[in-house]
Amino acid sequence: MQEVLKRAARFAASNAPVMILGESGAGKEVVARALHEGSSRADRPFVAVNVAALPSELLESELFGHVRGAFTGAAVAKEGLFESADGGTLFLDEIAEMPSPLQAKLLRALQDGEIRRVGETRAFGVDVRIVCATHRDLSARVEQGLFRQDLLYRLKVLTLKVPPLRARCEDVVPLARRMLLEEGRSELRLSREAIGLLERHPWPGNVRELQNVIKHGIALAEEGVIEPRHLPEELTAAGATSPRGDGNSPMRPLADVEREHVQRVLEACGGSQAEAARVLGIGRNTLWRKLRRFE
Ligand SMILES: Nc1ncnc2c1ncn2[C@@H]1O[C@H](COP(=O)(O)OP(=O)(O)OP(=O)(O)O)[C@@H](O)[C@H]1O
Ligand SMILES: [Mg+2]
Repeated sequence: MQEVLKRAARFAASNAPVMILGESGAGKEVVARALHEGSSRADRPFVAVNVAALPSELLESELFGHVRGAFTGAAVAKEGLFESADGGTLFLDEIAEMPSPLQAKLLRALQDGEIRRVGETRAFGVDVRIVCATHRDLSARVEQGLFRQDLLYRLKVLTLKVPPLRARCEDVVPLARRMLLEEGRSELRLSREAIGLLERHPWPGNVRELQNVIKHGIALAEEGVIEPRHLPEELTAAGATSPRGDGNSPMRPLADVEREHVQRVLEACGGSQAEAARVLGIGRNTLWRKLRRFE
């Protein structure tokens, strides 16, 4: 996470649009906010909008505003989110879901640096930095004809990838402790066995899933300690066959332990050797040599 934030800090100085990619719950919005906070726009608004949540017409007036009488129900003029974010950052979440008529309008706004309220002929300039996020493969959406390629190129001038939690298991325990603190329960301890389970879990729901697991642990904890039995079943079931944790495991040669650990990390990284090497803190060649030795 710190590597991502470091990269975000370097992007903060620029005004170019940023595309944040990552699985659901990985922390894309957290990164978008950090990007804003680290920029010279920090004292101006950060405005977030989920573009998947509204139908096309409503989204247009939400983003660009409308004049009085622009459509039935538009009794008063309304400022759009572009205007609200003036001088700051506009975060367009779930950008892959943006309806195509809106894609064309967003492209125009980006090209001209101007927006037009619905029902108005006059356009005016706004100074907004655009940050987008999606958990989808946008190039695939382009190939399927669902997303405009020209818009994609406008939006992903700079990109930030937030890795899934399973690819950065060293983040799990610090995040868990931080969550205990935020829940006002920093006095609670995680037992060694519980930590083992947390570090081994593949976290399909990423940080959001970890939050739920920690809440589960807080609710059931006894005597100031969160033990495996206080965690949800999906963690304990997966960890039941693990060789680690109960303190009674037989003494085993280091090579066996190493091999098992390396293979587990590789699996958790979806088979990516580059990612596994990073998590293990070793070079790719070293990993490759180890794997060859295991065969
Ligand atoms: N590094 C982090 N530190 C603290 N909390 C985090 C971190 N990363 C994520 N979270 C928390 O995890 C939850 C999910 O994060 P966020 O909403 O940023 O994910 P997302 O990638 O935008 O997910 P989605 O694609 O589902 O919108 C949030 O409650 C957020 O506060
Ligand atoms: Mg989000």
